[in-house]
Amino acid sequence: MNQDAITRAIRTQIERTGEMEHSSPLYLTSSFCFDDAESMRAAFADESDDNIYSRFSNPNVNEFTDKMCILEGAEAGYATASGMSAVFASFMAVLKSGDHLLCCNAVFGSTHTIITKYLPRYGIEYSYVSADRPEEWETSIRPNTKMIFLETPTNPGLNIIDLGHVGALAKKHNIIFNVDNCFATPLGQKPVDYGADLIVHSATKWLDGQGRVLGGIVVGKKDLINDIHLFCRSTGPALSPFNAWVLSKSLETLDVRMERHCANALFIAQSLEQHPKIAFLKYPFLPSHPQYDIAVKQMKNGGGIVCFELKGGLESGRAFLNNLKMLSVTANLGDTRSIASHPASTTHGKLTEQERAAVNITPGLIRISVGLEQRDDILNDLQQALAAC
Ligand SMILES: Cc1ncc(COP(=O)(O)O)c(C=O)c1O
Repeated sequence: MNQDAITRAIRTQIERTGEMEHSSPLYLTSSFCFDDAESMRAAFADESDDNIYSRFSNPNVNEFTDKMCILEGAEAGYATASGMSAVFASFMAVLKSGDHLLCCNAVFGSTHTIITKYLPRYGIEYSYVSADRPEEWETSIRPNTKMIFLETPTNPGLNIIDLGHVGALAKKHNIIFNVDNCFATPLGQKPVDYGADLIVHSATKWLDGQGRVLGGIVVGKKDLINDIHLFCRSTGPALSPFNAWVLSKSLETLDVRMERHCANALFIAQSLEQHPKIAFLKYPFLPSHPQYDIAVKQMKNGGGIVCFELKGGLESGRAFLNNLKMLSVTANLGDTRSIASHPASTTHGKLTEQERAAVNITPGLIRISVGLEQRDDILNDLQQALAAC
């Protein structure tokens, strides 16, 4: 039967036990037993797929990974304890001293820290391409460029990078193409269709969608995932079976949740775009977005994040957050509950002011993660907070 990927992900499940449970059982176990020495030897020699130890694999983690591979259209995957361990593993398992990493300058703050502070310690060079200057991608490629890494839409500035353009360059120059697909989710955008070899996720965000657990995953080409698997099973950033169980169940509702998040976000963006206190508002599916044409070409929806700059700058930004009555003021995103945050003083606080300006993080920038509440309630809270700042 030729089923849709969403249906297959929902129906993918650990094999039923003799108890005939409908929901997958939770395998909270560190290790797994063998009937005899020979079957244990064979498992260690990779001659069987038997589970050995939960740092290597676990049924709940495998279930989550299988669902993500289906949704992303990827060959294989390895799930990690957080999004950052997925990003780090995708670099460290693949790059070596003397390699060059080419990266979009608008990346998540901790990713920037890994690239600029830690990779150079291991002799891995990097250079940044401006999210606003796509022509720089090809001119920045060096003979030793081994990997191109980017996120789109970017956090928090919502820049859109043309996956078709960069994917074609990566293919032409035989460079590994690695995409952080956290903001779009596998249902909003398919990097594999543009030649991505690796796709990383913070599962902590929309994939969980309820602000409960940390998690991450790398999916992609089997040979690269084999290297990442060996790196992770040796260094230990394994996803806990409990978190994997939670995340796997979450994926079964991802489609309906994202439909509502995106519809609410578009409504908020359209309603506030002309607000007199807002200097500019960005949402990928608003025609006023500078890369709107690229967004509608490669994304199925505009995502659940809206950002805007208050005319009053930093002070208005702070007042705005203090005036909110319903929205949560917290660092996470991708929750059922709408969230407001101020990137310049939080997630991107470790960047210099110049670095922040280069990635369009202005002092008064507010990021809204639009939740599942009734859209008028979200809008009313935003409007009353804007009126009072
Ligand atoms: C785009 C992006 N990548 C990676 C991460 C890191 O994920 P985690 O917090 O799960 O480590 C985040 C977190 O906000 C993110 O927004």
